Amino acid sequence: MKLPPFKLERYFARYEFNTEFLLCSSDCESMSIADLLAFEDGAAERFHNHWLGYTESLGSPTLRKEIATIYSTTKPEDILVFAGANEAIYLFMMAALKENDHIIVHAPHYQSLSEVAKGIGCMVSPWRAREENGWALDLDELRHLMRPSTKAIVVNLPHNPTGYLMSLVDFDALNTFAQENNLLLFSDEVYRESEYAVADRLPAAVNYGTHAVSLGVTSKTYGLAGLRIGWLATKNRDLYNKMASLKDYTTICNSAPSEFLAELAMRHRTRLANRNLEIIKHNLTIVDDLFTRYSSLFSWHRPKAGSMGFPKLLRGDVETFCDDLVKKAGVLLLPGSVYDDAHNHFRLGLGRKNFPQAVERLEGYLSK
Ligand SMILES: Cc1ncc(COP(=O)(O)O)c(C=O)c1O
Repeated sequence: MKLPPFKLERYFARYEFNTEFLLCSSDCESMSIADLLAFEDGAAERFHNHWLGYTESLGSPTLRKEIATIYSTTKPEDILVFAGANEAIYLFMMAALKENDHIIVHAPHYQSLSEVAKGIGCMVSPWRAREENGWALDLDELRHLMRPSTKAIVVNLPHNPTGYLMSLVDFDALNTFAQENNLLLFSDEVYRESEYAVADRLPAAVNYGTHAVSLGVTSKTYGLAGLRIGWLATKNRDLYNKMASLKDYTTICNSAPSEFLAELAMRHRTRLANRNLEIIKHNLTIVDDLFTRYSSLFSWHRPKAGSMGFPKLLRGDVETFCDDLVKKAGVLLLPGSVYDDAHNHFRLGLGRKNFPQAVERLEGYLSK
C-alpha cells in the first residue's frame, strides 16, 4: 500500500518544536506525569511499581473497563485500545475495507480519514461541510453520494478543523441511514466531551448499534497526547476481531506506563475536560474580540465544541500569510491547504494556556 505524505504532520514537523507560539494546536493544554499522578493518593507509588512487561493486546482489562464507562451501553469487551487514534483509524480501514469499495467522508478532514482508504484502493467521496451553513453537513447530499459499492460513512464530530457539531435529530437520522443501507459508520469522536454547552453533546455512535464504531483518545479533550492511547468502541464482533488480529502487525500491545496513566486519567476525565474547557472558553472571548476588531481581514464561524476554529483570511493568500507570520513573529497557524481547502481558511487552536500571549504577538504582527 502506498501512502502520500501526511500534509498536516509534515507541516508540523517543520515548526512544532522550534516555534515560540503554536496557535493552531488541536490538542488541549497538557500536564506533567507528576501533576497527573497527584490526582490520586498512592498513584505515584503504584506507578513506580508498575510492571514493564508486554501488556494484553486488546488493552489492559482495567483500562478497557474504565473506557467502557464513557459510553452508556458498552462493556469492556467492546473496547479495543491502540497507540493513539491514528493507529485505530488505520486498522479500522484495513479491517473494514477492500479494493474498489466506496466510502463517504466528512470533508474537510484529518487526512488519514480518507487517505488510508485510498491507499487500499477504495473510491472516496467527500461529504462537504458548507461554510455558508455554519459548516453543517446536509443529509440530502449524503443520499446523493451513495453508490452500490458504498461500504462506510466516516464522520468527525465535533469536527476538526471547524468545531461543527451535528444536531441530535441529524445524528439520529445519520445512524438510521447507515443501518437501513447496511453501511458502517466510523465516528471519529476524539473531541467529544469538549462541547461548550453540555446539552449539545451527541450520544456516541457506538450506542446506536453494531453498524457503528466510535473513536476516542486521551490526546485532545483531556490534553494527554504524549500517552499515545486511543481506542475504538464497537459492538460489531466480526469487525472487532479483525482489527484486534491486525494489531499484531502494528504495535502488538500498548505501552505499560501509558496504560497505567491513561486509566488514571480516564477515572478523572471530567476534571481534565473541565480544566481544558475553561481554557478554551477564556480563549474564545479573546479571539471573538480580535475578529471583531479585524472584521475586514477575517471572517469567523464560532465553533460549538472542540479546541479549534477555521477562520478565513479575506485578503491575501493564506499560505503566504502563515509563512510570513511564523518567520517574522514566531506564531504558527495552519493553512487550510493541508486540508485541501482552497478557500483561504486557516486553523486556529483554542486549547493552550499561552493563547492570550500568542494572540498579542499575532496582533503586533497585524498592526505592522
Ligand atoms: C479528527 C482526528 N482524528 C484523529 C486524530 C489522531 O489523534 P492522535 O494524534 O492522538 O492519534 C486527530 C489528531 O489531530 C484528529 O484531529
